[in-house]
This record gives sequence, C-alpha cells and structure tokens, in this order.
Amino acid sequence: MTDLAQALAALEATAQADLASASDAATLEAVRVRWFGRKGSLATILRGLGEMDAAERPAAGKLANEVKRRLEVALEERQAALVALAQAAALTAARLDVTLPGQPVTIGRLHPSTQVLRRICQIWATMGFQIYRSRDVESDEMNFELLNIPAHHPARDMWDTFYTTTEGVLLRTHTSPGQIRAMREFHPEPIRVVLPGMCYRYEQITARSEIQFHQVEGLAVGRNITMTDLKGTLISFAHRMFGAERKVRFRASYFPFTEPSAEMDVECLICGGSGCSICKQSGWLEILGCGMVHPRVLQNGGYDPDVYSGFAFGMGPERITMLLHRIDDIRYFWANDLRFLEQF
Ligand code: PHE
Repeated sequence: MTDLAQALAALEATAQADLASASDAATLEAVRVRWFGRKGSLATILRGLGEMDAAERPAAGKLANEVKRRLEVALEERQAALVALAQAAALTAARLDVTLPGQPVTIGRLHPSTQVLRRICQIWATMGFQIYRSRDVESDEMNFELLNIPAHHPARDMWDTFYTTTEGVLLRTHTSPGQIRAMREFHPEPIRVVLPGMCYRYEQITARSEIQFHQVEGLAVGRNITMTDLKGTLISFAHRMFGAERKVRFRASYFPFTEPSAEMDVECLICGGSGCSICKQSGWLEILGCGMVHPRVLQNGGYDPDVYSGFAFGMGPERITMLLHRIDDIRYFWANDLRFLEQF
C-alpha cells in the first residue's frame, strides 16, 4: 500500500511537471496521451488494481482516483491557460498602430461627359424643367414617323440607324421620340421637361462622330408659347452655362419636327469670337438645334395645335464638353483611357 502510494505520488509529480512545461497545444496533447490515454501510465496503474488483495483494493482505488482527478483538473487548467496565452499573443501581433501613415486611396471620379450632363440638367432644373427619362430602344414610329419623318422622307438620311432583328424596333437616333412619350403622358397638362439620354447612330467612327453619344432634349408645351419664349429661354440657359457675358445667335435651320427651326451658336469659348481653329475662324460654336414644335407633332402627342404650342431643343453634352475642354477627338470619350479620364 505504501509502495503504491509512493508510486502514485511520484507519478503525479512527474505528470504535473509535464503538464506545466507543455508550452503549446500540440505538446500538451502529447502529454495528455502519455498520461491519460488508454495505454497511458494512469490507465496502467488503474488496471493493476485488479490484481491487488481484495482488502487493499478499496483504499488503493480511492487514492488512485484522487490522483487521476487532480491531474485531470490540472490538464484542463493548462489547456485554458494555453488558449488564453494564444489569444493574448494574437492580439499583440495584430495590434494596430494608429500613428502609422495611411495608404492613399484612389478615388473614382465622374466621367467628363457625366459632369457636363449633370450640369446641363441642373441648370434646366433651376429654370423649372423636370427631368424626363425615355427609353433607348424605340419603335420606328416614335423615332421617325410621329416626328413627321415618314419612311421616304429625305430627312431620314440624316440619321442612319441601328435596327434590331425585330421589325420596326431600333436604337433611338436622337432623344426627340421622348417628346411624343412626354406629351402622351402629360396631356392635357402644360409641359416643361428635359430628356437626357444616350443616342445611337450607325456611322463611321471618326474624330468628329461616334456611334453613341448623349443628347439633352428639351420640350415646353402650353397655351401661349412663342418663338420669343424659345429664344429667351435658350439665351438664359447659355448665359448660365457659359457665362453671362457670352454672346449667342440663332441661325435658321431645318428639322422635320419643328417649324420654324433654328440652330443656336455661342461666341467661341476658346478665342472669345476673334477666330481660331476650334471655331474654324468663324468666332461661333454651334451648340444646339431647336424650333417651335411642328403642329403635326403636337397632334401626334395628343395636343390640339389650334390651342397649344410649344418649343423643343436638342443639345449634345459631348460636343459641349469638347468645346469647354478643347478636346479634339470624340473617340476619347468611350475609350476608357485613364490618361484622358484622370484629367477631369
Ligand atoms: N433631334 C435633333 C437632332 O438630333 C435636335 C433637335 C431637337 C432639333 C429638338 C430641334 C428640336 O439633331
């Protein structure tokens, strides 16, 4: 019995020392197997109890079980201590030094044509025009027919078109079909809207022409709208957009859906009117087409041309952006070259 007690005491001391010296989870696991495993030292001793005298067995068993329980408690404590140590180490390792300089973040920016598009819409909004969105995929009827451009009208040459595989469905060549949609939606109320959007034309891509570009259409319909309103409104826009001192002029023009029609020029933004290569020595830059809504178009929109009248205009933000920033090639806009985009 004393032999056993001594053996157990020695075993416990060694096991405790083993546990205490295990400095990481893997070592501790090896210690656990050595002492507590099925073939471990404790198991061997407990098995040996079976061969003892029946008289000594209960006391010996009690002793051995006490040792076992103490060692189990020690094992658990050691495991918990190692977990805590590992967590503390991880926290120290991941500690954030808030005094380190930050890493520069590259901030995205708005595309130059988006910037100008938004500015144009903002100006129109301050003048009481509401933004009206219309679809990119249009019917032949909306894009041409209802705008007084019948199938064989020579004006169709002006807008070479992307047709879809569905008969009569195409990509809009201008934002003007939105005039019809707006009129049909607002009728019989008066209208003051601008329609920004992408347009598509089947064209050779060159420095001056792209197959896609934005337009901002404008439309005002009411009971007493005159050409004077058209001129005054567009002059006011030009002054807000390009500066109050900027001269503007109107030239007679032709569009099938307006009568009379005009184009508006502003004094060259680059040379101020004295003549340069951008304005081709004329001193003027064309920035939009406009006119009084054709009676037939009013009718197609549901407004009686004997009671209502209106004006419409269409301008190109890319063209205006090119003038503002002296960009000499429209292909830069959709080429996504950062060297270009980062300049704005
Ligand atoms: N839709 C015409 C174009 O694409 C511009 C325009 C709009 C002209 C409205 C007059 C009135 O050139």
